[in-house]
Amino acid sequence: MRFSAILGLAASIGLALAVPSSIEVPNVHGGNEDIVLTSQSGCGSSGPLGSGHYVWYIVVGCTPGDNYTCEVTDSTGCLPGNAKHIGSVEVDDPNDTFQIASKKNTNQVPFVCPSIGQVRCQANFNDSDDGPGYSLRVFAS
Ligand SMILES: *[C@@H]1O[C@H](CO)[C@@H](O)[C@H](O)[C@H]1NC(C)=O
Ligand SMILES: *[C@@H]1O[C@H](CO)[C@@H](O)[C@H](O)[C@H]1NC(C)=O
Ligand SMILES: *[C@@H]1O[C@H](CO)[C@@H](O)[C@H](O)[C@H]1NC(C)=O
Repeated sequence: MRFSAILGLAASIGLALAVPSSIEVPNVHGGNEDIVLTSQSGCGSSGPLGSGHYVWYIVVGCTPGDNYTCEVTDSTGCLPGNAKHIGSVEVDDPNDTFQIASKKNTNQVPFVCPSIGQVRCQANFNDSDDGPGYSLRVFAS
């Protein structure tokens, strides 16, 4: 509890001072499980991701109608990830009932924020042990 409150505070300060275009640093989900991170990668990213799942995602708030990018970064969170191990990057509504954008063999997908003001930014890796080399983030673009 306490530790996550500190993380949240650190994330807010980072957001306010250093990364104005980032939105928040949300928890990472692996497969259908909630993964609570004990550390955050840099530059507004969530990660590094874990292993044991092909699918990893974050759920992020956004301003309806604005342009954003869902990015699969490297493990530091700051550089685009190696696209070779990324089957696809996709953006869905938070409940995964409809797809907003998707692209194969890339590390970035641009999207327009839907009217519900929330999206799921998801990486589909080639292998279930690819996660630790990557983080996830959404930024205004
Ligand atoms: C989003 O991007 C499109 C295409 O680049 C541009 O035409 C549009 O004005 C942008 N929308 C906003 C809200 O910035
Ligand atoms: C990952 O999967 C994509 C799509 O199936 C494929 O094009 C790519 O070569 C694969 N990369 C690796 C490292 O296996
Ligand atoms: C997602 O599903 C939950 C539970 O079924 C529901 O309460 C919630 O309103 C849904 N959210 C959206 C944005 O559709």
